[in-house]
Parts: sequence; C-alpha cells; structure tokens
Amino acid sequence: MKETRQEDSQAEREEIQALTSTLNSLLIYRQAAHHNLTIPRRKAFQKLSENHINLLRPYYEDHLNAIDAAIEINADVLAHIASIGSNEFMAPQERSEWKQANAFQVDQTRSSLKQIFRDWSADAASEREICYGRVLSELNCRYPSEQRSQTKVLIPGAGLGRLAFEIARAGFISQGNEFSYHMLILSNFILNHTTGPNEFTIYPFIHTFSSTAQQGNQIRPIRFPDICPSQEMAVMSGDFSYSQGSFTEVYGRDGNAPSASFEKWNVVATVFFIDTAHNVLDYLDTIYTILDDSEESCWINFGPLLYHFEEEQSRSTTVSGRQGLEDIDSALSIELSLDVLIQIIKDRGFEFLKLETGIKTTYATDERSMGTWIYDSVFWVVRKKQ
Ligand SMILES: C[S@@+](CC[C@H](N)C(=O)[O-])C[C@H]1O[C@@H](n2cnc3c(N)ncnc32)[C@H](O)[C@@H]1O
Repeated sequence: MKETRQEDSQAEREEIQALTSTLNSLLIYRQAAHHNLTIPRRKAFQKLSENHINLLRPYYEDHLNAIDAAIEINADVLAHIASIGSNEFMAPQERSEWKQANAFQVDQTRSSLKQIFRDWSADAASEREICYGRVLSELNCRYPSEQRSQTKVLIPGAGLGRLAFEIARAGFISQGNEFSYHMLILSNFILNHTTGPNEFTIYPFIHTFSSTAQQGNQIRPIRFPDICPSQEMAVMSGDFSYSQGSFTEVYGRDGNAPSASFEKWNVVATVFFIDTAHNVLDYLDTIYTILDDSEESCWINFGPLLYHFEEEQSRSTTVSGRQGLEDIDSALSIELSLDVLIQIIKDRGFEFLKLETGIKTTYATDERSMGTWIYDSVFWVVRKKQ
C-alpha cells in the first residue's frame, strides 16, 4: 500500500514535470528562436568582406528584421497559449517550480507551429483533404446520418484535433486521444479558447532558410483557426471529447481483463499514427480488443510507415558496451514493411475491406518550398473477421 502511494506520487511528479517543461518550451521560444535564427546570421553577415556586405545588405538586413518581428508574433501567441494551458492543466502557480524545457521540447514547439498550420489553417486545406478527407468520406459512406449519433469513433494520436473535430461535426460520437502535452495544450486552446475564424496569426515557415524560392515565402503569415471550433460546437449535433494519455495504456489498460470489459468502439480511425509505436503489434492488439465485433465496425487507417523509433534504436545499438544494450529497451523499435504488416493484420484476425497504396501525401508541408517530402501513403479499411 505504502509502495503504491509512493509510486503514485512519483508518477504525479513526473506528470507535472512533463507539463511544466512543455509550458516552459512554449515560453522560451522567443529567446531560442532569436538565438537560433537571427543572432548567428547577423554575426555571420558582419564577418563577411565589405564587398559582400554591400552586395547583400539590401536583401538580407530587412529580411532578418522581418524574421525578428515574426518571431515576436509567434512568441506572443505561444505565451498566450501557455498562460491558458497553465490554468487549464493546473500547473503549479509558482514558475520557479516548473521544470526547464530540453532541446527536444523546444524543437517540438517550433514544429507545433507547423501543426497549427496543418490542422487549422485554410492554407493546408488541400493537404488535409487527402488524408482526413478520405477518412471522413469513408465514414460518411458507411454510416447514414441517422446512425451517426450512436456511432462511436476513436481517433488515437489525434494531434491538434482537426480530424476528431470534423468527425464530431459530421454527427458522430468522436473521441481524440493524445499523449503529448504540446498537442494537448495547443488543441485545448484552439478547440475551446478561440473566438472567431482567423483570429490569430503565426509565421510557421521562418525556421527554415534553405529551399526558399522567394524571400517572402519564408515570412508569410498563416491565420488560424480557419473555422472557429467553439462556434461550430455550439450548433453541431455530434459529441466530441479528448482523452489524455498513451493509447495502449488508456484503452488497453489492463492486459488481463476479459476483452468484454473494455469500452467498445464502432470505428478506430488512425491517421499518421501507427508508425509512432515502439511495437506496432501493441497497437493492433489494442485496436482488436476495443473494436466492436459487429460487421459494420471497422478500423480505418491512413499514413506512411516512417517508424518514429527507428533512428533512436539504431543510435542506441551503435554504442558498444553495456550502456548501449541497456538503452535498447526505451528505444525498442519493430519496423515492419507494408507487405508483412498487411499479413500480420490478417493473422491477427482482421479482414481487409479496402486497401489502397501509393497515395501521394505531405505532412505540415510548405508547398512553396523548393524541397518537399512526399510520402506514398497507404489507406485501408479492415474489420474483425466475421
Ligand atoms: C505524426 S502525428 C499525427 C497527428 C495527426 N493524426 C495528424 O495526422 O496530423 C502522431 C501523433 O500521435 C501522437 N502519439 C504518438 N504516440 C502516441 C501514443 N502512444 N498515444 C497517444 N498519442 C500518441 C503524437 O503525440 C502525435 O501527435
């Protein structure tokens, strides 16, 4: 009993640390961005020969000033989000008790700006249509509108919540699930604290200088949210919620429980998610367990197989000796090729209703960039074998 209480308070401490270091990573953005983007470039500029300085000055100085101004605007938005997040997620009042952010979290803050662009700007509507649009049309085709208010859809790895929100807007019972405090704090802000369309402006593309065709592209503003979720929620019929925590822990909580005791879902919809697993078989187990047995129930998936822990595992195994071997557990990564994964999904007890491969997709991508990463995504609909 005593040990359990100690474990609980240790887990609570770790949770508060994860929350406060994320909040700090939003607050430190201002300093980190000036430090990484404009300060070193101004220093490099001053080291150039006089000829080069004179040639470059008309194009470069104003551009760096514009980037500084954009950093300030991003930082103000992030500070506003952090202030709302610290109240809503009940962070300790005393900032000195907050854990410092690490470099990875600061990097996540930068990429969160791109996630806002992906999920909640008009500019990324075509990117969303390819992945979220496909999932939504599948759902809408499978479930006539009168059935939707009794149809429960779970969206693990919901990110900033646009797909989960759209599923609710279409009339379904929709629940997003996330474990990243960045995503939870930002989605909570956008979903519950924005008051009108295009209320905020950010500059998500300022962090990359390479592959810029026109200087203005890097410093172009993006407005969000393109539609105001709280206004929409006031008039929509669907039921929308978000759960916090790791998918397999929240939904597959007790591996020994009889499968009948798990909350059942009519649909599990995963987009750019299954490759986030250390072991994708754990995700398959949880999905199989929580998916309702009926023939209408299904798992809809869209995305690539860019296994998130592949590099980490490789890094830990290249270290020779004890340290490296111990690290393998936390960096464990099972990376299955698509053909093997498809076979395993069948072996695990699913049958394929739809399977489409090679769907060209981008992810939070600046379409004006001279270098973009294109995924050949896979889309499938499977159900439990009948
Ligand atoms: C590549 S992002 C995709 C987000 C969103 N589905 C989209 O398409 O934009 C993967 C998301 O899954 C979340 N995630 C990763 N592992 C998770 C887990 N075990 N439980 C819940 N969420 C997880 C990450 O925090 C991240 O937001």
